[in-house]
Amino acid sequence: MALTVAVTGPTGDIGISAVSALDQHPEVERVIGMARRPFDPSAQGWTKTEYRQGDILDRDAVDALVADADVVVHLAFIIMGSREESARVNLAGTRNVFEAAVASPRTRRLVYTSSVAAYGYHSDNPVPITEDVPPRGSPEHYYSQQKAACEAALAEITAGTELEVYILRPCIVAGPKALALAEAMPWNHLPDAVRKVTHAVPLLKPPFPDPGTPLQLVHHDDVASAIALAVTTSAPPGAYNLAADGVLTISEVGAALGARPIRIPHFLMTAASEVVARVPFVPSMLEWLHTGRTSVVMDTTKAKEQLGWRPNYTAAETLSALAAAT
Ligand SMILES: NC(=O)c1ccc[n+]([C@@H]2O[C@H](COP(=O)([O-])OP(=O)(O)OC[C@H]3O[C@@H](n4cnc5c(N)ncnc54)[C@H](OP(=O)(O)O)[C@@H]3O)[C@@H](O)[C@H]2O)c1
Repeated sequence: MALTVAVTGPTGDIGISAVSALDQHPEVERVIGMARRPFDPSAQGWTKTEYRQGDILDRDAVDALVADADVVVHLAFIIMGSREESARVNLAGTRNVFEAAVASPRTRRLVYTSSVAAYGYHSDNPVPITEDVPPRGSPEHYYSQQKAACEAALAEITAGTELEVYILRPCIVAGPKALALAEAMPWNHLPDAVRKVTHAVPLLKPPFPDPGTPLQLVHHDDVASAIALAVTTSAPPGAYNLAADGVLTISEVGAALGARPIRIPHFLMTAASEVVARVPFVPSMLEWLHTGRTSVVMDTTKAKEQLGWRPNYTAAETLSALAAAT
């Protein structure tokens, strides 16, 4: 095989690792990446990868990107943003990519990174959750709602077509090149001098509520290897959960990232989540609170058995690597 792979969002936390894996893959001949900002692919040491500036909201740019592609990998997304702005890019832009992949005569496969958030935070979800459970999303969290909506759009747009569709559902991605989880902690935005003092004196560390909800992480290089597998595999198309082995507590994550964990009763988190869900015009950032309400621990047996995915890092190793890099 000498595949040409088009990648939207090649410069993001997952994109850099994914394109590195594709660039080194013997079955990949050419990678064409597209995102909005300027970027130099040669600075990453990539030799098969070209980069062009473009917006997934621009259908002509998306058509041109996928025209030569055997496989399209769709990563471009707004994760942290306002509900309105993220919806504009994520729903309309993602639809453009799916429709362009279907319309492109050369493209035979689409790999889309959805998310654990697509399942939604429902108390009747099984634990652990498998790919058999429909991705219902949770309307009170814009990201979860949009991830579920994108999967629904994908099913609708590709129904009855020949396109092979692989949906990857990672949990939170972390590691030395994916710092978003650490950057989301407000104390990491304090001036360096203040951070050093708070790190050194346990009582000055910021309190971090832990309602007892278990958490999964996955290393960016392991997500990259799953994407490379999805691009090249003969395993059946469909959805695949991605999470490292092992489950962490929120206290472990908070402590590793510089906070002072405090266990709180779970009903307090549920109550806070219910209040936030009912208040109109809540800041989009606050909607992430809902992720702590319910366990969405995923079963990754299918990715391991069918895709042959072997994550190299446990959740604890991923957290240590993230903490060491921040
Ligand atoms: N990171 C996680 O923890 C995680 C977990 C589960 C699933 N996922 C999913 O995995 C995918 C990739 O995530 P990520 O962490 O790599 O995201 P990221 O770090 O935020 O990167 C987003 C990428 O998309 C590009 N982009 C954004 N808007 C665009 C637009 N309108 N047109 C073209 N490119 C655009 C960005 O570059 P420009 O800004 O320069 O355009 C960047 O390359 C997303 O679908 C995300 O929901 C991520």
